[in-house]
Amino acid sequence: MFHKKTKIFLDSANPAETAQAIEMLGGLDGQTTNPSLVVKNLNQSSKISEEEMLGFYKTNVQKISKLIPNGSVSIEVYADQRTSAKEIYEQAISMNEWIDNAHIKFPTIPAALEAAAKFIKQGGRANFTLVFNQKQALAIHNLVISVGATKGQVFISPFVGRLDDIGLKGVDLLANVQKMYQQLQSPVEILGASIRNLNHLQYCFDIGLDIVTLPLSIIKEWHQSQNITYSPQNLTPIGFENLDYTQKWQDIDISHELTTKGLLKFAQDWKSLLE
Ligand code: E4P
Repeated sequence: MFHKKTKIFLDSANPAETAQAIEMLGGLDGQTTNPSLVVKNLNQSSKISEEEMLGFYKTNVQKISKLIPNGSVSIEVYADQRTSAKEIYEQAISMNEWIDNAHIKFPTIPAALEAAAKFIKQGGRANFTLVFNQKQALAIHNLVISVGATKGQVFISPFVGRLDDIGLKGVDLLANVQKMYQQLQSPVEILGASIRNLNHLQYCFDIGLDIVTLPLSIIKEWHQSQNITYSPQNLTPIGFENLDYTQKWQDIDISHELTTKGLLKFAQDWKSLLE
């Protein structure tokens, strides 16, 4: 909508921020939420029930959806290492009924992929989150091909900033997944997540990434700056991996320490306010 081909999403669970971003940019292509952002937005210290928490999430997602009815709004399921595929699937079905323009966010763990396969096969729109390497991206592509999906029905969210945090050049993962998906002619759209600065944003523009999701603070900085240019960072490059594309998605090792850590953090944040 705004810059070359990259669609701009807001990374926030707060509808007041949606309105501010629309005001600044003249529109938004979508919004992403996650359990940590939902809790941050609740801004309260007293405990509440899970039902109240989900009610709060639903109300805010519905407000966001009204502000961007033609965009996409990502809603994330709750999952920890013990959550079953059946439980994740049931949450996806229920959250998908909240609004007409949902993408359901599934963490990249085996139970969630199993649930997502069923959900996508039935026409559901999905966003795979907590993606930190190319193998995970291959498993997601092969899953999507096995169940069938149209372009735009499925997103994958590689997390740039959290790779930078451990000294790796997070933006390389975006380029590597993009190259692999071009070779595979994948219908999966790549959504740059965990974006921490304008340098990350400019990189997404430079490679013509499909989508990027930005916290309001970055949108403000972008709005105030005339020109941004990408300058390479002093981080360890992530090389492109030549993987065997013929593997079944169920046979690909999708484990990654940052996925495990991220899942735990989302679960802890979500539970921190529950009675
Ligand atoms: C969005 O989909 C992600 O949940 C978000 O960008 C994560 O960002 P963080 O790594 O800054 O928490």
